[in-house]
Amino acid sequence: MKRVLVTGANGYLASLVYHMNQDAFEWIRMTRKDADFSDPDAVEAWIRKQEFDICFHTAANANTAFCNEHPDLAEKINVESTKRIVDVCDERGALLIFSSSEQVFNGRSKRGPFHEDEEPYAVTVYGQNKIACEKYIHEHLKKAIILRYSWQLGLSQPDVKASPNLAANVMKALLHQQPTLFTCNEKRCLTYAKHLAIAFPKIIDLAPGTYHVAASNELTTYEAAVYIAKKLGATQKAIDTYILPNHERYQDRFRDFRLDASKLEALGISFGTFEDHVDELLNDFGWHV
Ligand SMILES: NC(=O)c1ccc[n+]([C@@H]2O[C@H](COP(=O)([O-])OP(=O)(O)OC[C@H]3O[C@@H](n4cnc5c(N)ncnc54)[C@H](OP(=O)(O)O)[C@@H]3O)[C@@H](O)[C@H]2O)c1
Repeated sequence: MKRVLVTGANGYLASLVYHMNQDAFEWIRMTRKDADFSDPDAVEAWIRKQEFDICFHTAANANTAFCNEHPDLAEKINVESTKRIVDVCDERGALLIFSSSEQVFNGRSKRGPFHEDEEPYAVTVYGQNKIACEKYIHEHLKKAIILRYSWQLGLSQPDVKASPNLAANVMKALLHQQPTLFTCNEKRCLTYAKHLAIAFPKIIDLAPGTYHVAASNELTTYEAAVYIAKKLGATQKAIDTYILPNHERYQDRFRDFRLDASKLEALGISFGTFEDHVDELLNDFGWHV
């Protein structure tokens, strides 16, 4: 049985992938207690002690504002520690599965969906961190799969804490009766994270390269929020009161960093549509009306 070392093991994607593939692999679950990623030496020292075939690297500080405010720290956590992991994987001949992001395209003025071969360009530190990691991987490691995720949808369950996402934000707005703004000048793919977990055993057998993990989506973030609210059974009055359009944000430049996932689809790993994913998520958690 293959041994998978997963970094950021208490994070959303890592814990969901583990939860749904627990018996298919032997797992080494690395958490902040084992090493803090702001200390690349500690990360390298801990990883060097482990025996593994695959490293599923998810640990990162994915908070855009934090990374912009603390670029040096973000560089250490997101880039320097990743470089150490890449080096150890190279020495061991282990496969690296790196968690990259749609945010590598957030500076492009061209509108998405973006294909894997298109040039990334980011205007945030977090996006630039992911580009720097991808570049280092390309230059130093042959056995690597770079997964660029779109914004993941999900809800928390025992032992799996969902990271901030649109479905949770819409539910919070409606349940707590909090008027909440949702961006109109933005299109992103929105993908139920369960599909990454389902695809994981197939992903490890892919040829080295970069792959987009994304359901297709034609809606703006505001329109997608309204769609989710309707599926939750919210009345038009509740939607008009709590799910509010933010026309100001990104007024200067429409952000469309949707990902084209046809490369994985051609290999038998397909993600379907945003609407399918919302229905499935709400069904899974008993919220569908
Ligand atoms: N979720 C998305 O929509 C999305 C989209 C694109 C890309 N990604 C990428 O996918 C990966 C996983 O995302 P996620 O949603 O699962 O994020 P998450 O829930 O925030 O998990 C991130 C993990 O990284 C760990 N971590 C952060 N800073 C650390 C540090 N200084 N030292 C040690 N561990 C640290 C966290 O540890 P603690 O649990 O101790 O805080 C957490 O376990 C990330 O690389 C993210 O950039 C996610």
